[in-house]
Amino acid sequence: MLQLKIIHASTREGRKGIGISKWIEQEAKKYPEFEVELVDLKELNLPFFDEPEHPRFGRYHRQHTKDWGAVVDAADAFIFVTPEYNHGMPATLKNALDYLSNEWHHKPVAMVGYGGISAGTRAIQQLKQVTSALKMTAFDGMLLAMPFQQISPEGNFGPTAENVAVAKTMFQELQRLGQGLKTLRPEALSMA
Ligand SMILES: Cc1cc2nc3c(=O)[nH]c(=O)nc-3n(C[C@H](O)[C@H](O)[C@H](O)COP(=O)(O)O)c2cc1C
Repeated sequence: MLQLKIIHASTREGRKGIGISKWIEQEAKKYPEFEVELVDLKELNLPFFDEPEHPRFGRYHRQHTKDWGAVVDAADAFIFVTPEYNHGMPATLKNALDYLSNEWHHKPVAMVGYGGISAGTRAIQQLKQVTSALKMTAFDGMLLAMPFQQISPEGNFGPTAENVAVAKTMFQELQRLGQGLKTLRPEALSMA
């Protein structure tokens, strides 16, 4: 069993993308190999990074960091669902990443990008640079160019058959990497 956390990045009022995350959560729950949690950064509501010490020491002074650290530490795999803002990742996601260090290490992340014709690819390219500093294994999970017609006025995402097929491949890849990378983490190493 792998703990899969789906992290939704956009937090603004009227955001469109939360329906995409909710649909991915529904799809992921079809796989008995995953225990799934959707983590909405809007609900998490982290302030701008305010820890006095570098997160690599794991000496957290703020309760919100301890709580966020426990969520990420429990995960075996992630899906980041992110829009592209000004050709980059939303500040909310960078902030949430910067808060922690070891909790991200040696874990896979599938990137789901959405936006205009670029489908969030520039946000994802930035994320690859940042997640590599955090020793994560990142890959493109799903790219949604102009998905807005697929989102109902109530905010529900209506997938195409191709979306469903791409999601399946993403879950298979996450399962493969999630199991493999688990063996690299300290609790699995005799030298740790
Ligand atoms: C501040 C801001 C910057 C944006 N920059 C881009 C961009 O660089 N590329 C793009 O494809 N779409 C861009 N968009 C359009 C977003 O793709 C679109 O608004 C999308 O719905 C944002 O996701 P959200 O509704 O979940 O916040 C931008 C939107 C905002 C609000």
